[in-house]
Amino acid sequence: MKISSILFFSQSIFIMAILFTGVYYRKIKTKHIKLMGTGIIWDLILILQIELTRHAINTASKALTNPMILNIHVSFSVLTVLLYFTIIPTGLSLKKGNENIRKTHRFLGVTTLTSRTLVFITSIMVYFLN
Ligand code: HEM
Repeated sequence: MKISSILFFSQSIFIMAILFTGVYYRKIKTKHIKLMGTGIIWDLILILQIELTRHAINTASKALTNPMILNIHVSFSVLTVLLYFTIIPTGLSLKKGNENIRKTHRFLGVTTLTSRTLVFITSIMVYFLN
């Protein structure tokens, strides 16, 4: 296994651990926000590292010739980033006391975590394909 793959995999596991711990502490506002913020920022930094070392966007753009599992992996990755940017405003609104948005935030939370987990599972599948 390449050293870069080990570094990416271990960061990915760490990030997911932070996000799941953050959801465990969902009732403790300050702890929850700190953990989710850290997890999201670190995840964006991980994507940046992968792009800078492997030109991931260029590879991903060749969807017609890429293996199906890579396309699925890229789709869940893009979806996860979009969900990150969607869940932040709902979280900030909930923090300000807008209880009407709680259900939306909870739904987006479950969806985001599911999508992020699928990114991880498909990344393992892509690795073993190579
Ligand atoms: C992937 C990111 C996130 C996930 C998966 C997530 C998930 C959740 C879940 C499941 C709840 C409990 C809702 C309920 O059942 O009542 C919650 C509550 C909350 N979240 Fe998030 N969240 C995320 C990000 C954020 C962010 C970025 C913020 C703020 C900027 C935030 C602010 C809050 C607040 C203020 C609450 C209410 C806490 C309380 O009840 O005191 N969340 N979140």
